[in-house]
Amino acid sequence: MQRDVSSYAIAPSVKVKLLNAGFLSAADLCDLRPLQLSKEACISQEEAVEVLQAVRCEPGQERAAAGRLTALELLGREQELGTIVTFCSALDMALGGGMPVGKTTEVCGAPGVGKTQLCIQLSVDVQIPACFGGLGGKSLYIDTEGSFLVQRAVDLAQAAVEHCGLLAEDSEQQEALKGFTVETILSNLFLVRCHDYVELLAETYLLADFLAQHPGVRLVVIDSIAFSFRHDFEDLSQRTRLLNGLAQRLIQMATNHNVAVILTNQMTTKIWSGQSKLVPALGESWGHAATQRLILHWDGTHRAMTEHISRLCKGYLTKESDGAASDDLASTITRSQPS
Ligand SMILES: Nc1ncnc2c1ncn2[C@@H]1O[C@H](COP(=O)(O)OP(=O)(O)OP(=O)(O)O)[C@@H](O)[C@H]1O
Ligand SMILES: [Mg+2]
Repeated sequence: MQRDVSSYAIAPSVKVKLLNAGFLSAADLCDLRPLQLSKEACISQEEAVEVLQAVRCEPGQERAAAGRLTALELLGREQELGTIVTFCSALDMALGGGMPVGKTTEVCGAPGVGKTQLCIQLSVDVQIPACFGGLGGKSLYIDTEGSFLVQRAVDLAQAAVEHCGLLAEDSEQQEALKGFTVETILSNLFLVRCHDYVELLAETYLLADFLAQHPGVRLVVIDSIAFSFRHDFEDLSQRTRLLNGLAQRLIQMATNHNVAVILTNQMTTKIWSGQSKLVPALGESWGHAATQRLILHWDGTHRAMTEHISRLCKGYLTKESDGAASDDLASTITRSQPS
């Protein structure tokens, strides 16, 4: 922490202000909060957040930023971070073990296809104790649509606890189950309600601080990005600029704080040479925002998922619950072959 402030990848004008205010090394900065730093160094809060992120960055990440991390080291780092299991073996297999931590994933799909359900399921699954192969983490759920239903979370938590109860073999697992109850799962699931895009943007600026104060958080969900940004905009270039900035902040958040970021997006109709097609909303440039894009869709009465990265058409099928009492993804999944 004795590293000189001038050696960090910070804008030169900000460096000058930091040095003038007497911040010479990382040790002078690491305990400060963004607001305090912004006041003391006369820089904007956004600049203060960026400075603190650069300074608090882990050694491996600094080396990666400087281009001095080998692919082998990066592979080791990604394996260490782990993934969040979805409780659907075909999907986990397609995703290489589950939702990746340290990356951003966009989940798109038509209304009612199961985006929120998957996000709540992941918010529970991220808490599965390490001795069961989970991450033993916590989650932050940013709800822009008002669609987070706590009873759904209770049902999914109950199912996860029962599932782990059936798997428990040794005394370590029995002991871990004492701390893995519906109550602890719900108390480790932090909720934020944002009513419009201004509140959502503000929340993303506060995220770095929240994650620094809650280092156990391994998953951040935004359900959905589209709801806040699809309407209310006459100036589409302003929307694109705001979305680009948001995407950058989320990617930075995912890498700096080792969290999986899951964003949901709605679908819109696009007319292409006289034919209409359902495509993810928010335009083409947003299509590059997340590390990977998953599209949920209906295949008859089944839910299917397509992974839209270089490997196209990997998927899983889940059986429709036919309105049965349980909304539990785990218990309604049929283990079908990827489409
Ligand atoms: N895999 C599944 N198995 C059984 N039921 C499911 C599954 N996924 C979702 N459901 C149920 O389908 C309904 C709609 O799901 P959900 O709210 O997740 O859709 P959504 O894609 O988020 O829709 P919207 O775009 O309107 O937000 C809910 O009652 C949910 O419990
Ligand atoms: Mg939803």
